[in-house]
Amino acid sequence: MSDVPNIGDYYSFDLVGERALIVRGKDNQVRAFHNVCRHRGSRVVATERGTCKSAIVCPFHGWSYNLDGTLRAVPQAKSLPKLDPVGHGLPPVDFEIWHGFVFVRFVRGDQPSVAQMMAPHEDIIGHYRMAETKPYGKMISQKMPVNWKSVRDVDNEGYHVPVAHPALQDLYGNGYVDESMGFGITRSTGVFNESRDRYWSVRNYKKILPPMAHLPEANQKVWYYYGIFPNMVFMLYPDMIGFYQEYPVAVDKTIQRFSYYALEDDRRETKLSRYLAKRIDELTGMEDTQLIAWCFEALQSSGYKGLILSDLESGVRAYHDMLRQVVPVVGLEKPPVPGAMAETNKVLRDAIPPLPWGR
Ligand code: FES
Ligand SMILES: [Fe+2]
Repeated sequence: MSDVPNIGDYYSFDLVGERALIVRGKDNQVRAFHNVCRHRGSRVVATERGTCKSAIVCPFHGWSYNLDGTLRAVPQAKSLPKLDPVGHGLPPVDFEIWHGFVFVRFVRGDQPSVAQMMAPHEDIIGHYRMAETKPYGKMISQKMPVNWKSVRDVDNEGYHVPVAHPALQDLYGNGYVDESMGFGITRSTGVFNESRDRYWSVRNYKKILPPMAHLPEANQKVWYYYGIFPNMVFMLYPDMIGFYQEYPVAVDKTIQRFSYYALEDDRRETKLSRYLAKRIDELTGMEDTQLIAWCFEALQSSGYKGLILSDLESGVRAYHDMLRQVVPVVGLEKPPVPGAMAETNKVLRDAIPPLPWGR
């Protein structure tokens, strides 16, 4: 919510045909709507982020909405049927605020809430005071010429860390564990190594990172990654937190978004450690981007004969098992004919045992 800190601040994003708008109201409540005007469907805000002073004014004919989404006024009201401020307000979107992060659902099924999925991990996550953090640097969105699942396939295992990510191996290689926690949650834990580090950034990060008063001893020297099925990871570092997530745009186009957040801490060492942590992540990101592209390209190669998975890549297997349960069409040789996707998924889903939380 700290991305929309003041009254009237908004944030919008698109996801496979849907458009969401998050706005902070006059009562300081953050709400989610479709970025769809009730008049004729124009976007009511045109930019990804900004501030509406006291109303959201549609750029097409000027219908205006209050910051709580209710319809405020329309030009030439007499020319229109009688309009109801609530019934003709911005269409609301189902949303949930978990530790200060806003999650939206365009289709409400019987899935568990984020809070329910993460409840077993509160004993660790609660220490990080996520809701009090503020953006630390800009949110970055980058296009990747791959399928979104290819990003997950590289990210869902740590078998590649010793070879592909020498800096991460320096940081926590010997103390790294991947775990499947149920409910589509995965956790990767990287406890810092005591060994001598080859990488300047890692060596100095470990040396400079000061004690964090809000964290217990066990969390002072560890990086956690909590994965939330199907496309999001929270990073919990001692000095800051962050997330990254992937949105499908087309079969071979994905947007990856990431952002960091931090508690207020003016110590020089903290500034430096945060700089170094970002540097380590940047390096890791570049290394992964290349691997993701190569693995995605391989799907076109006549030499590609499928996967051979190590036990250390069980996260990749678990992810696809879950994907086949939730979206069983992904297991078909050929896509369903246009228009038959939802029905095919339903028929296939009905033929398999239900997920732990039903369907
Ligand atoms: S479409 Fe928004 S005012 Fe007409
Ligand atoms: Fe990686």
